[in-house]
Amino acid sequence: GVTRHYQFDIQMQTVTRLCHTKSIVTANGKFPGPKIVAREGDRLVIKVVNHVRNNISLHWHGIRQLRSGWADGPAYVTQCPIQTGQTYVYNFTIVGQRGTLWWHAHISWLRSTLYGSIVILPKHNVPYPFAKPDKEVPIIFGEWFNVDTEAIINQALQTGGGPNVSDAYTINGLPGPLYKCSAKDTYKLKVKPGKTYLLRLINAALNDELFFSIANHTFTVVDADAVYVKPFETDTLLITPGQTTNVLLKAKSHYPNATFLMLARPYVTGLGTFDNSTTAGILEYELPSKSSSVGTNSLKKLPLFKPQLPALNDTSFATNFTKKLRSLATAQFPANVPQTVDRRFFFTVGLGTNPCPKNHTCQGPTNSTMFAASINNISFAMPTTALLQTHFFRQSNNAMLTTTFPTKPVIPFNYTGTPPNNTNVSNGTKLVVLPFNTNVELIMQDTSVLGAESHPLHLHGFNFFVVGQGFGNYNSNKDPASFNLIDPVERNTIGVPVGGWVAIRFLADNPGVWFMHCHLEIHTSWGLKMAWVVTDGKLPNQKLPPPPSDFPKC
Ligand code: C2O
Repeated sequence: GVTRHYQFDIQMQTVTRLCHTKSIVTANGKFPGPKIVAREGDRLVIKVVNHVRNNISLHWHGIRQLRSGWADGPAYVTQCPIQTGQTYVYNFTIVGQRGTLWWHAHISWLRSTLYGSIVILPKHNVPYPFAKPDKEVPIIFGEWFNVDTEAIINQALQTGGGPNVSDAYTINGLPGPLYKCSAKDTYKLKVKPGKTYLLRLINAALNDELFFSIANHTFTVVDADAVYVKPFETDTLLITPGQTTNVLLKAKSHYPNATFLMLARPYVTGLGTFDNSTTAGILEYELPSKSSSVGTNSLKKLPLFKPQLPALNDTSFATNFTKKLRSLATAQFPANVPQTVDRRFFFTVGLGTNPCPKNHTCQGPTNSTMFAASINNISFAMPTTALLQTHFFRQSNNAMLTTTFPTKPVIPFNYTGTPPNNTNVSNGTKLVVLPFNTNVELIMQDTSVLGAESHPLHLHGFNFFVVGQGFGNYNSNKDPASFNLIDPVERNTIGVPVGGWVAIRFLADNPGVWFMHCHLEIHTSWGLKMAWVVTDGKLPNQKLPPPPSDFPKC
């Protein structure tokens, strides 16, 4: 591989959408941010210079960061933030991954404007396991807020209430014609008849899983989270925040005399607080060059077709779609599913409440409560120093970070139906310590308490295999019999279904401290997060090297 250098100057930029102008935090003044292009095996050296008032940290979502945890990015987990005027160089190699990933700010809600795509091409002379597309196009879904997102989350955390919803969803930063004052801000994909396009889809939205479809066209899904999958056809996709999906779009063989809308809209909205509006872009067929110079067709107003998206809360679509995702599992692209398990964990994930602190005005589900989100009833409290740094220096002194995270819920209850509110949440910075090369099985059970939403759980530092999923309470006597240990999908973010569970397996072969959290930003803010500590192995190439010399200080 080669070394590729990037510089991201974090700076304010004035941007107008929906007739609202605001100053947003960007990289190099771009919204969405710059695209990173590399090949499998390349080293990326990204110099980040912070010119804004906010503390900054950037995360390279889905990059495995093998023994390069110092470059992973979640603030107070792997690093202290980059302070105003400071610089930090993220330095890592892309090992065994090709496809689409993305980068985003990993502190407060800054990722609402600070994000971009990472395109990882296969190594030179290694073809795709599918026909070579004529063109590749990143398509990033996002959310636009007319007001300052930092103010929204600070307000929500102080009052314990739900935050404001965004004012629009976006495609490549553009809301599209279905929103007021936005027709000129519409993403247009121009295609030529007979050609094939690789769409690199990224859900960078803060708080919503999305359906996506293009009228009168179908997709072939070929990749999820930068891992090839067995190709399958679909006219609609489901993509959760944090996930990426590569699809082939075959343009019609003849000029169709029509234009086509592409639409994205939420799958579920919890607590009735999240909106159900729709972002639209346009798929347009370019005229054959001869007739375009004549200009006849372009003067005609072409009919516009609109796709049908599944209904809000269409769980059966979501389940069927998720089940179709399977690893390629070929000799060239094997699925290395752990066949045995060293340690088993059962995590409940969901929302609940904490009591309103004294002398506080709370706007939680009731006036005396605040929203809290938790794993095994523990709402993660962010430390004020970087956990990875603490771990590294303790380990060098033969000590360990404390391993207090419970392997199952502290107080069990029936997770389905209409259980009572989960009021047994306590706050804490608790971790699981895993010896190097532990085979982990983790069941994540949605608690379905307070609002029906699935939780897109994202694990840093690893891909995992989704070996099983189902509805109702997980049954440890019965359900493992149906686990797929042959070709389960391998990814870094999985939706824990509303009122159901997923089972994942991964090999803890990457020393460091690895964050795991719901990729709905509001749930992360409420505490639906934890971290795994993976110790060094015995061999030199199984150890985490020391931090780089420019590592930020808290
Ligand atoms: Cu894409 Cu910890 O996040």
